[in-house]
Amino acid sequence: MWLCLPSETRMVQARYTFPRGFLWGTATSSHQVEGNNTNNNWWAWEQEPGRILHGHTSRLACDWWGGRWREDLDRAAETHQNAHRLSIEWSRIQPTPDRWDEDALDRYREILRGVQQRNMTPMVTLHHFTDPLWLAEMGGWENPAAPDYFSHYVTKAVEALQGYANLWITINEPGVLLSEGYLRANFPPAKKDINAAFRVAMNLLRAHVSAYHAIHQVQPTARAGLSHHVRLFHPKKRWFPLDRLAARMFAAGLNETFPHALASGDLRLVHKRARFAEAKGTQDFFGVNYYTTAEIAFNLFKPGDLFGEHSFPPGAELSDTGFLANVPEGMFETLRWARRFGLPIIVTENGVEDAGDALRRRYLLQHLHQLWRAVNFNYPIKGYFHWTLVDNFEWERGWTQRFGLWSLDVDSQARTRRPSADLYASICRENAIDSEAAARYAPEIMDSMFPEE
Ligand code: BGC
Repeated sequence: MWLCLPSETRMVQARYTFPRGFLWGTATSSHQVEGNNTNNNWWAWEQEPGRILHGHTSRLACDWWGGRWREDLDRAAETHQNAHRLSIEWSRIQPTPDRWDEDALDRYREILRGVQQRNMTPMVTLHHFTDPLWLAEMGGWENPAAPDYFSHYVTKAVEALQGYANLWITINEPGVLLSEGYLRANFPPAKKDINAAFRVAMNLLRAHVSAYHAIHQVQPTARAGLSHHVRLFHPKKRWFPLDRLAARMFAAGLNETFPHALASGDLRLVHKRARFAEAKGTQDFFGVNYYTTAEIAFNLFKPGDLFGEHSFPPGAELSDTGFLANVPEGMFETLRWARRFGLPIIVTENGVEDAGDALRRRYLLQHLHQLWRAVNFNYPIKGYFHWTLVDNFEWERGWTQRFGLWSLDVDSQARTRRPSADLYASICRENAIDSEAAARYAPEIMDSMFPEE
Protein backbone atom coordinates (compact mmCIF):
# COMPACT_ATOMS: atom_id res chain seq x y z
CA MET A 1 0.00 0.00 0.00
CA TRP A 2 2.76 2.37 1.06
CA LEU A 3 4.62 1.85 -2.19
CA CYS A 4 1.54 2.77 -4.25
CA LEU A 5 1.30 6.29 -2.87
CA PRO A 6 2.28 9.14 -5.19
CA SER A 7 5.84 10.20 -4.48
CA GLU A 8 5.03 13.58 -2.90
CA THR A 9 2.86 11.98 -0.22
CA ARG A 10 5.39 9.23 0.47
CA MET A 11 6.98 10.96 3.37
CA VAL A 12 8.26 9.64 6.63
CA GLN A 13 6.34 11.12 9.56
CA ALA A 14 8.77 11.56 12.40
CA ARG A 15 10.05 14.01 14.94
CA TYR A 16 13.28 14.53 16.74
CA THR A 17 12.23 15.61 20.21
CA PHE A 18 14.33 17.53 22.72
CA PRO A 19 14.29 17.23 26.52
CA ARG A 20 11.63 19.09 28.48
CA GLY A 21 12.75 22.56 29.57
CA PHE A 22 15.29 22.89 26.73
CA LEU A 23 16.23 26.55 26.17
CA TRP A 24 15.54 27.85 22.68
CA GLY A 25 16.60 31.37 21.84
CA THR A 26 18.64 33.74 19.79
CA ALA A 27 21.83 35.54 20.83
CA THR A 28 22.68 39.22 20.34
CA SER A 29 25.41 41.55 21.58
CA SER A 30 25.23 45.17 22.71
CA HIS A 31 27.54 46.83 20.19
CA GLN A 32 26.02 44.88 17.33
CA VAL A 33 22.41 45.86 18.07
CA GLU A 34 22.21 48.93 20.33
CA GLY A 35 23.54 51.70 18.10
CA ASN A 36 25.40 54.85 19.06
CA ASN A 37 27.84 53.07 21.34
CA THR A 38 30.21 55.98 20.99
CA ASN A 39 32.25 55.42 24.15
CA ASN A 40 33.98 52.14 23.31
CA ASN A 41 37.07 51.05 21.39
CA TRP A 42 35.08 49.63 18.47
CA TRP A 43 33.30 52.91 17.74
CA ALA A 44 36.65 54.68 17.62
CA TRP A 45 38.04 51.90 15.44
CA GLU A 46 35.16 52.13 12.98
CA GLN A 47 35.93 55.81 12.39
CA GLU A 48 39.48 54.97 11.20
CA PRO A 49 39.66 54.59 7.41
CA GLY A 50 40.32 51.07 6.17
CA ARG A 51 39.43 49.24 9.37
CA ILE A 52 35.94 47.99 8.43
CA LEU A 53 34.97 46.51 5.08
CA HIS A 54 33.60 49.19 2.72
CA GLY A 55 34.06 51.78 5.47
CA HIS A 56 30.88 50.61 7.20
CA THR A 57 30.17 51.75 10.76
CA SER A 58 27.76 50.43 13.38
CA ARG A 59 25.74 53.71 13.43
CA LEU A 60 22.28 53.03 14.84
CA ALA A 61 22.83 49.28 14.50
CA CYS A 62 19.37 47.75 15.19
CA ASP A 63 18.47 50.80 17.30
CA TRP A 64 17.87 48.85 20.50
CA TRP A 65 19.09 51.78 22.57
CA GLY A 66 16.45 53.89 20.84
CA GLY A 67 13.78 51.38 21.99
CA ARG A 68 13.52 48.88 19.16
CA TRP A 69 14.53 46.08 21.57
CA ARG A 70 10.81 45.94 22.38
CA GLU A 71 9.66 45.05 18.90
CA ASP A 72 12.56 42.64 18.37
CA LEU A 73 11.91 40.83 21.65
CA ASP A 74 8.25 40.65 20.61
CA ARG A 75 9.44 38.95 17.44
CA ALA A 76 11.46 36.45 19.49
CA ALA A 77 8.57 35.72 21.87
CA GLU A 78 5.94 35.49 19.14
CA THR A 79 8.09 32.90 17.41
CA HIS A 80 8.06 30.77 20.58
CA GLN A 81 11.60 31.36 21.76
CA ASN A 82 11.79 30.79 25.51
CA ALA A 83 15.21 32.35 26.14
CA HIS A 84 17.32 35.26 24.95
CA ARG A 85 21.05 35.89 25.25
CA LEU A 86 22.07 39.56 25.17
CA SER A 87 25.07 41.53 26.34
CA ILE A 88 25.39 44.68 28.38
CA GLU A 89 27.82 47.41 27.45
CA TRP A 90 30.57 48.13 29.97
CA SER A 91 31.29 51.55 28.43
CA ARG A 92 27.70 52.67 29.08
CA ILE A 93 27.60 51.42 32.67
CA GLN A 94 31.02 52.81 33.57
CA PRO A 95 31.57 55.75 31.20
CA THR A 96 34.72 56.83 33.07
CA PRO A 97 36.73 54.85 35.62
CA ASP A 98 35.24 56.82 38.52
CA ARG A 99 31.59 57.02 37.45
CA TRP A 100 28.64 54.62 37.21
CA ASP A 101 25.76 55.56 34.95
CA GLU A 102 22.61 54.63 36.88
CA ASP A 103 20.39 55.54 33.91
CA ALA A 104 22.14 52.95 31.78
CA LEU A 105 21.61 50.35 34.50
CA ASP A 106 17.92 51.34 34.66
CA ARG A 107 17.68 50.86 30.94
CA TYR A 108 19.21 47.36 31.17
CA ARG A 109 16.82 46.54 34.02
CA GLU A 110 13.96 47.57 31.75
CA ILE A 111 15.23 45.45 28.87
CA LEU A 112 15.77 42.40 31.08
CA ARG A 113 12.34 42.88 32.65
CA GLY A 114 11.07 42.96 29.06
CA VAL A 115 12.74 39.60 28.40
CA GLN A 116 11.14 38.10 31.50
CA GLN A 117 7.71 39.60 30.77
CA ARG A 118 7.81 37.85 27.43
CA ASN A 119 8.39 34.55 29.28
CA MET A 120 11.93 34.20 28.07
CA THR A 121 14.89 33.22 30.26
CA PRO A 122 17.59 35.89 30.03
CA MET A 123 21.25 35.02 29.66
CA VAL A 124 23.53 38.04 30.10
CA THR A 125 27.00 38.43 28.61
CA LEU A 126 29.16 40.90 30.52
CA HIS A 127 31.82 41.39 27.86
CA HIS A 128 31.27 40.84 24.15
CA PHE A 129 34.39 42.14 22.35
CA THR A 130 34.05 45.86 23.25
CA ASP A 131 36.05 47.77 25.87
CA PRO A 132 35.36 51.22 27.31
CA LEU A 133 37.46 53.82 25.53
CA TRP A 134 39.15 54.76 28.81
CA LEU A 135 40.35 51.19 29.27
CA ALA A 136 41.63 51.04 25.68
CA GLU A 137 43.51 54.29 26.28
CA MET A 138 45.18 52.73 29.33
CA GLY A 139 46.45 49.84 27.19
CA GLY A 140 43.31 47.68 27.26
CA TRP A 141 43.75 44.05 28.27
CA GLU A 142 47.53 44.39 28.33
CA ASN A 143 47.21 46.59 31.39
CA PRO A 144 47.65 44.45 34.54
CA ALA A 145 44.90 46.52 36.21
CA ALA A 146 42.29 45.45 33.60
CA PRO A 147 41.06 42.36 35.53
CA ASP A 148 40.37 44.47 38.64
CA TYR A 149 38.49 47.07 36.64
CA PHE A 150 36.48 44.30 35.04
CA SER A 151 35.56 42.67 38.31
CA HIS A 152 34.41 46.00 39.81
CA TYR A 153 32.19 46.53 36.80
CA VAL A 154 30.85 42.98 37.06
CA THR A 155 30.04 43.41 40.76
CA LYS A 156 28.20 46.64 40.04
CA ALA A 157 26.28 45.17 37.10
CA VAL A 158 25.30 41.97 38.89
CA GLU A 159 24.21 43.90 41.99
CA ALA A 160 21.98 46.02 39.78
CA LEU A 161 20.61 43.24 37.59
CA GLN A 162 20.50 40.20 39.87
CA GLY A 163 16.71 40.29 40.11
CA TYR A 164 16.45 39.89 36.35
CA ALA A 165 18.95 37.20 35.38
CA ASN A 166 20.88 34.36 36.85
CA LEU A 167 22.66 32.98 33.81
CA TRP A 168 25.85 34.94 33.15
CA ILE A 169 28.59 34.77 30.54
CA THR A 170 31.64 36.62 31.82
CA ILE A 171 33.52 36.92 28.51
CA ASN A 172 32.40 36.04 25.01
CA GLU A 173 34.98 34.10 23.00
CA PRO A 174 38.21 35.07 24.76
CA GLY A 175 40.08 32.99 22.17
CA VAL A 176 38.70 35.11 19.31
CA LEU A 177 39.40 38.34 21.18
CA LEU A 178 42.96 37.17 21.57
CA SER A 179 43.58 35.89 18.06
CA GLU A 180 41.79 38.69 16.20
CA GLY A 181 43.14 41.50 18.39
CA TYR A 182 46.70 40.35 19.11
CA LEU A 183 47.71 37.73 16.52
CA ARG A 184 45.78 38.36 13.29
CA ALA A 185 45.11 42.09 13.65
CA ASN A 186 41.46 42.14 12.52
CA PHE A 187 40.12 43.62 15.78
CA PRO A 188 41.51 46.55 17.75
CA PRO A 189 44.27 47.01 18.81
CA ALA A 190 45.38 45.07 15.69
CA LYS A 191 48.66 43.70 17.01
CA LYS A 192 50.63 40.70 15.83
CA ASP A 193 52.60 40.08 18.96
CA ILE A 194 52.71 36.75 20.75
CA ASN A 195 54.10 38.29 23.96
CA ALA A 196 51.26 40.81 24.12
CA ALA A 197 48.79 38.01 23.31
CA PHE A 198 50.10 35.96 26.21
CA ARG A 199 49.79 38.86 28.65
CA VAL A 200 46.26 39.46 27.42
CA ALA A 201 45.38 35.77 27.75
CA MET A 202 46.54 35.83 31.37
CA ASN A 203 44.60 39.01 32.11
CA LEU A 204 41.43 37.69 30.47
CA LEU A 205 41.72 34.55 32.55
CA ARG A 206 42.25 36.56 35.74
CA ALA A 207 39.31 38.78 34.79
CA HIS A 208 37.07 35.78 34.26
CA VAL A 209 38.10 34.16 37.55
CA SER A 210 37.49 37.26 39.62
CA ALA A 211 34.23 37.98 37.79
CA TYR A 212 33.12 34.39 38.43
CA HIS A 213 33.65 34.83 42.17
CA ALA A 214 32.14 38.33 42.17
CA ILE A 215 28.97 36.98 40.52
CA HIS A 216 28.61 34.22 43.11
CA GLN A 217 29.34 36.59 45.95
CA VAL A 218 26.49 38.87 44.90
CA GLN A 219 24.13 36.15 43.70
CA PRO A 220 24.85 32.74 45.24
CA THR A 221 22.30 30.98 43.00
CA ALA A 222 23.85 32.34 39.78
CA ARG A 223 25.25 30.08 37.05
CA ALA A 224 28.27 31.58 35.33
CA GLY A 225 30.46 30.51 32.44
CA LEU A 226 32.06 31.69 29.20
CA SER A 227 31.22 31.31 25.53
CA HIS A 228 34.02 29.40 23.85
CA HIS A 229 34.35 29.68 20.10
CA VAL A 230 35.14 26.39 18.40
CA ARG A 231 36.11 26.21 14.75
CA LEU A 232 37.10 22.59 14.13
CA PHE A 233 40.40 22.08 12.34
CA HIS A 234 40.98 18.85 10.45
CA PRO A 235 44.23 17.98 8.66
CA LYS A 236 43.82 18.44 4.92
CA LYS A 237 45.57 15.16 4.26
CA ARG A 238 44.77 12.94 7.21
CA TRP A 239 47.69 10.60 6.44
CA PHE A 240 50.24 13.43 6.40
CA PRO A 241 51.85 13.97 9.83
CA LEU A 242 52.73 17.62 9.18
CA ASP A 243 49.12 18.48 8.26
CA ARG A 244 48.01 16.69 11.41
CA LEU A 245 50.53 18.65 13.46
CA ALA A 246 49.47 22.00 11.96
CA ALA A 247 45.77 21.22 12.55
CA ARG A 248 46.56 20.29 16.16
CA MET A 249 48.42 23.58 16.64
CA PHE A 250 45.45 25.52 15.30
CA ALA A 251 43.05 23.71 17.62
CA ALA A 252 45.34 24.10 20.63
CA GLY A 253 46.01 27.79 19.95
CA LEU A 254 42.58 28.98 18.83
CA ASN A 255 40.04 26.66 20.51
CA GLU A 256 41.62 25.11 23.54
CA THR A 257 43.71 27.77 25.29
CA PHE A 258 40.93 28.90 27.64
CA PRO A 259 38.96 25.67 28.08
CA HIS A 260 42.20 23.91 28.92
CA ALA A 261 43.35 26.59 31.36
CA LEU A 262 39.98 26.49 33.14
CA ALA A 263 40.09 22.72 33.42
CA SER A 264 43.73 22.33 34.45
CA GLY A 265 44.99 25.65 35.81
CA ASP A 266 47.69 25.70 33.08
CA LEU A 267 47.65 28.49 30.53
CA ARG A 268 49.36 27.53 27.25
CA LEU A 269 49.64 29.62 24.13
CA VAL A 270 51.88 28.29 21.34
CA HIS A 271 55.25 27.91 23.13
CA LYS A 272 54.33 29.98 26.20
CA ARG A 273 53.21 28.52 29.50
CA ALA A 274 52.10 29.77 32.91
CA ARG A 275 50.44 28.26 35.94
CA PHE A 276 47.24 29.82 37.25
CA ALA A 277 45.70 27.23 39.56
CA GLU A 278 42.85 29.52 40.66
CA ALA A 279 41.33 29.22 37.18
CA LYS A 280 40.43 25.58 37.79
CA GLY A 281 36.75 24.87 38.15
CA THR A 282 35.45 28.41 37.57
CA GLN A 283 32.66 27.50 35.12
CA ASP A 284 29.17 26.30 36.07
CA PHE A 285 28.37 25.40 32.48
CA PHE A 286 30.30 25.16 29.23
CA GLY A 287 29.10 27.70 26.64
CA VAL A 288 30.10 26.81 23.11
CA ASN A 289 29.77 28.70 19.82
CA TYR A 290 30.05 26.45 16.77
CA TYR A 291 29.76 27.78 13.23
CA THR A 292 32.03 25.79 10.93
CA THR A 293 34.85 23.32 10.30
CA ALA A 294 38.04 23.98 8.35
CA GLU A 295 40.97 22.03 6.94
CA ILE A 296 44.58 22.87 7.62
CA ALA A 297 47.55 22.06 5.38
CA PHE A 298 51.12 22.46 6.62
CA ASN A 299 52.87 25.38 4.96
CA LEU A 300 56.49 26.11 5.81
CA PHE A 301 56.16 29.65 4.49
CA LYS A 302 53.44 30.66 6.93
CA PRO A 303 55.17 30.84 10.31
CA GLY A 304 52.88 33.73 11.32
CA ASP A 305 49.87 31.45 10.80
CA LEU A 306 51.22 28.59 12.92
CA PHE A 307 52.56 27.02 9.68
CA GLY A 308 49.06 26.29 8.49
CA GLU A 309 47.04 27.05 5.36
CA HIS A 310 43.32 27.30 6.04
CA SER A 311 40.60 26.11 3.63
CA PHE A 312 37.12 24.64 3.79
CA PRO A 313 36.44 20.95 3.16
CA PRO A 314 36.14 20.32 -0.59
CA GLY A 315 32.53 20.08 -1.64
CA ALA A 316 31.19 21.79 1.48
CA GLU A 317 28.55 24.38 0.75
CA LEU A 318 29.80 27.92 1.45
CA SER A 319 27.89 30.87 2.88
CA ASP A 320 27.17 34.10 0.96
CA THR A 321 30.59 35.68 1.31
CA GLY A 322 32.49 32.43 1.71
CA PHE A 323 32.98 33.10 5.43
CA LEU A 324 31.58 29.76 6.61
CA ALA A 325 31.10 26.24 5.28
CA ASN A 326 28.05 24.17 6.17
CA VAL A 327 29.56 21.23 8.08
CA PRO A 328 26.81 20.04 10.46
CA GLU A 329 28.72 16.96 11.66
CA GLY A 330 31.09 19.44 13.25
CA MET A 331 28.32 20.35 15.70
CA PHE A 332 28.26 16.78 17.00
CA GLU A 333 32.05 16.61 17.12
CA THR A 334 32.20 19.92 19.00
CA LEU A 335 29.67 18.72 21.56
CA ARG A 336 31.55 15.45 22.01
CA TRP A 337 34.69 17.47 22.67
CA ALA A 338 32.85 19.85 25.03
CA ARG A 339 31.45 16.93 27.02
CA ARG A 340 34.90 16.03 28.32
CA PHE A 341 34.83 19.09 30.59
CA GLY A 342 32.11 17.43 32.66
CA LEU A 343 29.77 20.43 32.77
CA PRO A 344 26.27 21.15 31.48
CA ILE A 345 26.65 22.43 27.90
CA ILE A 346 24.82 25.35 26.31
CA VAL A 347 25.22 26.17 22.61
CA THR A 348 25.50 29.93 23.02
CA GLU A 349 25.84 30.68 19.26
CA ASN A 350 25.39 28.93 15.92
CA GLY A 351 24.23 30.38 12.61
CA VAL A 352 25.14 31.36 9.09
CA GLU A 353 25.27 34.50 6.97
CA ASP A 354 22.75 34.07 4.21
CA ALA A 355 20.82 37.07 2.92
CA GLY A 356 18.72 34.91 0.57
CA ASP A 357 17.81 32.43 3.35
CA ALA A 358 18.18 29.29 1.26
CA LEU A 359 21.22 27.81 2.98
CA ARG A 360 20.15 28.92 6.47
CA ARG A 361 17.11 26.63 6.50
CA ARG A 362 19.14 23.50 5.80
CA TYR A 363 21.99 24.68 7.99
CA LEU A 364 19.62 25.16 10.92
CA LEU A 365 17.89 21.81 10.47
CA GLN A 366 21.09 19.88 9.93
CA HIS A 367 22.89 21.46 12.89
CA LEU A 368 19.92 20.90 15.18
CA HIS A 369 19.71 17.31 14.01
CA GLN A 370 23.32 16.83 15.09
CA LEU A 371 22.53 18.52 18.39
CA TRP A 372 19.62 16.13 18.86
CA ARG A 373 21.95 13.18 18.20
CA ALA A 374 24.26 14.46 20.92
CA VAL A 375 21.32 14.85 23.32
CA ASN A 376 20.48 11.23 22.59
CA PHE A 377 23.97 10.15 23.53
CA ASN A 378 23.03 11.71 26.84
CA TYR A 379 25.39 14.65 26.51
CA PRO A 380 24.15 17.19 29.07
CA ILE A 381 23.00 19.87 26.62
CA LYS A 382 20.64 22.43 28.11
CA GLY A 383 19.91 24.91 25.34
CA TYR A 384 20.58 26.44 21.94
CA PHE A 385 20.87 30.11 20.94
CA HIS A 386 20.79 30.89 17.24
CA TRP A 387 22.96 33.71 15.93
CA THR A 388 21.00 35.92 15.41
CA LEU A 389 17.56 37.50 15.71
CA VAL A 390 17.86 40.46 13.27
CA ASP A 391 20.77 41.22 10.89
CA ASN A 392 23.38 43.15 12.84
CA PHE A 393 26.75 44.86 12.61
CA GLU A 394 29.31 42.12 11.94
CA TRP A 395 32.53 43.67 13.27
CA GLU A 396 35.33 44.09 10.70
CA ARG A 397 32.91 42.74 8.05
CA GLY A 398 30.48 45.58 8.68
CA TRP A 399 27.01 45.09 7.24
CA THR A 400 28.17 42.75 4.48
CA GLN A 401 27.07 39.61 6.33
CA ARG A 402 23.45 38.87 7.17
CA PHE A 403 22.99 36.43 10.03
CA GLY A 404 19.42 37.36 11.07
CA LEU A 405 16.21 35.35 11.18
CA TRP A 406 14.88 38.78 10.21
CA SER A 407 16.60 40.94 7.62
CA LEU A 408 17.29 44.57 8.39
CA ASP A 409 17.28 47.62 6.15
CA VAL A 410 19.83 49.67 8.04
CA ASP A 411 18.64 53.04 6.71
CA SER A 412 14.92 52.62 7.27
CA GLN A 413 15.27 50.17 10.19
CA ALA A 414 12.59 48.01 8.53
CA ARG A 415 12.69 44.33 9.44
CA THR A 416 11.54 41.52 7.13
CA ARG A 417 10.91 38.04 8.38
CA ARG A 418 12.88 35.32 6.63
CA PRO A 419 11.39 31.83 6.19
CA SER A 420 13.95 30.49 8.69
CA ALA A 421 12.20 32.50 11.40
CA ASP A 422 9.07 30.41 10.80
CA LEU A 423 11.04 27.20 10.66
CA TYR A 424 12.77 28.02 13.95
CA ALA A 425 9.41 29.03 15.45
CA SER A 426 8.02 25.59 14.70
CA ILE A 427 11.05 23.93 16.33
CA CYS A 428 10.80 26.12 19.42
CA ARG A 429 7.05 25.61 19.71
CA GLU A 430 7.18 21.84 19.32
CA ASN A 431 10.45 21.41 21.19
CA ALA A 432 11.19 19.11 18.27
CA ILE A 433 12.22 18.97 14.64
CA ASP A 434 9.19 17.75 12.80
CA SER A 435 9.45 16.02 9.43
CA GLU A 436 6.60 18.14 8.11
CA ALA A 437 8.39 21.37 8.94
CA ALA A 438 11.60 20.02 7.45
CA ALA A 439 9.77 19.00 4.26
CA ARG A 440 8.21 22.45 3.99
CA TYR A 441 11.38 24.47 4.52
CA ALA A 442 14.16 22.25 3.17
CA PRO A 443 12.70 19.40 1.09
CA GLU A 444 16.12 18.81 -0.48
CA ILE A 445 17.54 17.31 2.73
CA MET A 446 14.59 15.06 3.61
CA ASP A 447 16.29 11.94 2.29
CA SER A 448 19.31 12.41 4.48
CA MET A 449 17.51 13.73 7.55
CA PHE A 450 14.48 11.46 7.53
CA PRO A 451 15.54 8.42 5.52
CA GLU A 452 12.73 6.06 4.64
CA GLU A 453 14.65 2.96 5.63
C1 BGC B 1 30.64 36.41 17.65
C2 BGC B 1 29.53 37.31 17.18
C3 BGC B 1 29.57 37.41 15.66
C4 BGC B 1 29.38 36.03 15.09
C5 BGC B 1 29.28 35.97 13.56
C6 BGC B 1 30.79 35.14 16.83
O1 BGC B 1 32.11 34.73 16.84
O2 BGC B 1 30.49 36.12 19.01
O3 BGC B 1 29.67 38.57 17.78
O4 BGC B 1 28.66 38.31 15.17
O5 BGC B 1 30.49 35.25 15.48
O6 BGC B 1 30.35 36.60 12.94
